[in-house]
Amino acid sequence: MVNPATHKDRVAVVTGGGQGFGRAIATDLAARGADIVIIDLNAAPETVAEVEALGRRAVSLTADVSDPEAVAEAGKRALEEFDAVDILINNAGSFPFRDFFDLDFAGWKKSLAVNLDSQFLTAMTFAPGMRDRGWGRIVNIASNSLGLAVPSLSHYMAAKGGVVGFTRGLATDLAAYGITVNAVSPTASGTPGGKASFPDGVLENVASMQAIKRGGEATDIVGTVSFLSSEDCGFVTGQTIVADGGLVRL
Ligand SMILES: NC(=O)c1ccc[n+]([C@@H]2O[C@H](COP(=O)([O-])OP(=O)(O)OC[C@H]3O[C@@H](n4cnc5c(N)ncnc54)[C@H](O)[C@@H]3O)[C@@H](O)[C@H]2O)c1
Repeated sequence: MVNPATHKDRVAVVTGGGQGFGRAIATDLAARGADIVIIDLNAAPETVAEVEALGRRAVSLTADVSDPEAVAEAGKRALEEFDAVDILINNAGSFPFRDFFDLDFAGWKKSLAVNLDSQFLTAMTFAPGMRDRGWGRIVNIASNSLGLAVPSLSHYMAAKGGVVGFTRGLATDLAAYGITVNAVSPTASGTPGGKASFPDGVLENVASMQAIKRGGEATDIVGTVSFLSSEDCGFVTGQTIVADGGLVRL
């Protein structure tokens, strides 16, 4: 049973909240008392319905989080709906597999834009309000692939490595304002994006190497995200928690 007190009356932005990990995170934070702003390429009616069924408010904004103007506009709209944003979950991302010799510069830049630039843009948009109120939580989604020899992900691993570095640096810069910044690295998981992206056998092979030998599911990181976005995380910052069934050990 979820403890509703941990996020009571907080407002959380969840990027990529329309499906997969983002949808599971949005629903879990709502069950803990938060109102939710979803920023996704697509409208997110299922997530909105799940959040509202839990008695919380949900607003679905459509924007490409790699587009600076779109993110700024979404930030404006979020603050028209709610007085403040307390929590930012940078979850939107994409992971098309590309052999290095099939990768071009456009594909490389797209991966960096969607997976890394996006987290900078949303932090630029929402951190000033957190700073002004003296409290905030930012949780960036990385990937356990950083610690593995998964082929055809150099562009993605470069971006997710950047996420870990950005998390460490931003944590230092925002600490004085009561804002913590941490990252979570999930394992290969059967989200809609995972099912569409993973070549045959990858999910099963990764699961067989984990201590907990089952494929990852969207709900597997919600406990870690809820801790890192709660009051309880006030003295933990700059960290990456690998929530991957015990595969990669830091
Ligand atoms: N599924 C996995 O195996 C796995 C493993 C490790 C890390 N991750 C990370 O978890 C996060 C979520 O992945 P998922 O598996 O839930 O993927 P998913 O494809 O199922 O869902 C991603 C959501 O993000 C949205 N999105 C994608 N690009 C966007 C953009 N430019 N602007 C706004 N919204 C955008 C999509 O519309 C979608 O709703 C990503 O950062 C991904 O890299 C996933």
